[in-house]
Amino acid sequence: MGILERFYKNIGIDLGTANFLLYLKGQGIVVNEPTLVAVNTRTGQILAVGVGAKKMLDRTPAHINLIKPLMAGVISDFETTEEIIKYFLRKVSEDSFISRYKLAAVSVPTNLTEVERKSVEDAVMSAGVSRALLVEEPIASAIGARLPVEEAIANMIVDVGGGTTEISIISVGGTVVSKSLKIAGQRFNEDIMRFVKDEFKLIIGEPTAEELKINIGSATSLDEKMEMAARGRDIGTGLPKEILVRGTHVRAAMSKSLKLLVEEIKILIEEAPPELVGDILRRGIHLSGGGSLLKALDRYIEKEISVQTEVVDDPLTCVVRGLGIIIEDLDKYEPILSNQQKPKIINP
Ligand SMILES: Nc1ncnc2c1ncn2[C@@H]1O[C@H](COP(=O)(O)OP(=O)(O)OP(=O)(O)O)[C@@H](O)[C@H]1O
Ligand SMILES: [Mg+2]
Repeated sequence: MGILERFYKNIGIDLGTANFLLYLKGQGIVVNEPTLVAVNTRTGQILAVGVGAKKMLDRTPAHINLIKPLMAGVISDFETTEEIIKYFLRKVSEDSFISRYKLAAVSVPTNLTEVERKSVEDAVMSAGVSRALLVEEPIASAIGARLPVEEAIANMIVDVGGGTTEISIISVGGTVVSKSLKIAGQRFNEDIMRFVKDEFKLIIGEPTAEELKINIGSATSLDEKMEMAARGRDIGTGLPKEILVRGTHVRAAMSKSLKLLVEEIKILIEEAPPELVGDILRRGIHLSGGGSLLKALDRYIEKEISVQTEVVDDPLTCVVRGLGIIIEDLDKYEPILSNQQKPKIINP
């Protein structure tokens, strides 16, 4: 390792709606925390970032505001996003004696406008990185899943994240067709909150809805019967109350969103050039992102569209591991990635 390389490092940044991950060249994943900031509304001061902010989630006093600076994969609060990147880069620098970052490979949704892409670049560069290399999330995901992206074989990857689901067919390092939906982890949480409110007249917080989803939720029926106690506020009395929620309730709550998701996958396959469809039927659909951990989601998709479907290894870190592979071998990947400009984007 040259002296310069020791102090000027390349990094990978997965700037997700739900989770922020950093990969440091030669080292691996060094940050994996929620994309969340706690701010004192009186002073504007940042009180905690990431895991620290999440700890405050359910018990925030009135003067503390929790900010999620990304919505559906797009930066909605530029300053806070910049602060998050700065905060974690500083933390990593202190731990690893790095003075500057030469290049950051950053994953972005496929449907960003030029202005939105520029704002990601600006946020990263103002945090002290010399150059930003934007990589479309499905490509990073496919590389992380060790799919043969550089070959002329079509691969279908469906990344179910927190804010968006990216459905893409990629080939020769580029996105051939892709679609970005706002049906993902957060939508499922909202579905569950609404269902519990309508069915049980109970208001629950998003963290509770997320727990229900992760612990007892599924896309199709499971052999095992599952239930979980959930606490919330009774609409009638305004008092705290505990109810018992069943897995079938959670599934019913999400069923409409899941149906839409599958419908969109089907449409993208139907609209794809025929020569790609053969590859997809042969190679199947790869699911990544945290949302793909929903129980039986793979089985549900497989049954509904009759294409073999499987979840990649460690789907929550797939994108950042892909970025890691890219920065570990930039000479190989940068030319391949130059293929990713201007895919055909279909947006509903
Ligand atoms: N076991 C699980 N079952 C169901 N959902 C899960 C599970 N684990 C995590 N999730 C969901 O995964 C989502 C986060 O996934 P991920 O980290 O891939 O999103 P992200 O990359 O931050 O978002 P995006 O890519 O949309 O910007 C959350 O909505 C979370 O609730
Ligand atoms: Mg993501």
